Amino acid sequence: MTYPLEIGAILHHVTIMQSKQAAHNILLEDLDAILVDEAAITARLKELGQEINTIYAGRELAVIAIINGAIIFVADLIRELNLSIQLDCIRVSSYRDEMRPVQEPEIIDKVRLDVKGVDVLLIDDILDSGKTLSQVCKIFRKRQPASLRTCVLLDKQTTRSVDFEADFVGFQIADEFVVGYGLDFAERYRQLPCIGVLKPELQNPPEWS
Ligand code: IMP
Ligand code: MG
Repeated sequence: MTYPLEIGAILHHVTIMQSKQAAHNILLEDLDAILVDEAAITARLKELGQEINTIYAGRELAVIAIINGAIIFVADLIRELNLSIQLDCIRVSSYRDEMRPVQEPEIIDKVRLDVKGVDVLLIDDILDSGKTLSQVCKIFRKRQPASLRTCVLLDKQTTRSVDFEADFVGFQIADEFVVGYGLDFAERYRQLPCIGVLKPELQNPPEWS
């Protein structure tokens, strides 16, 4: 059957929305609880964006995303910024598929941007022990940026093993293993639009190792 152009476009859009929802429903079944829903994330990102816009007003900012975890957060946050920004990514490995760090943070993909004399904002998904961000900050300080600040979507304040606080924080959360909105377990669940606690029985299934 053929439809007038506008109805065809609407049906196409509805089909995409339904298949996106179906994918999310499968993943939502693996959660024990939703800690932060999509609406709360959207609202908080607008506030964070305003805070960042105010601090860096009139300046150019180098945003460095710690991937993979920060990709979704950074993609949404930078669209709240009315600043001139340069974007680059750094890859740091500190977890394998386990729930706890298994090694010291290791920088495995370097930033290409020259940040000397530039305002730098390092963005990660979550601040837990603090090792990752304190290590990355140490490396960036050697490159003599004009300023260096950090921003995280989530902060588990009670789990710190090194003395480190972020300059911008989306949400403080309890010490639970969370997934969604960029956060993963074994590279899964990143596309969930909310942040939730993974069911304990799914936190280390042998078939994923
Ligand atoms: P930190 O070095 O212990 O602060 O850990 C930071 C990194 O650990 C983050 O970039 C995450 O990749 C990972 N991480 C810590 N807690 C969680 C969690 O609850 N879910 C998913 N990843 C986590
Ligand atoms: Mg990470």
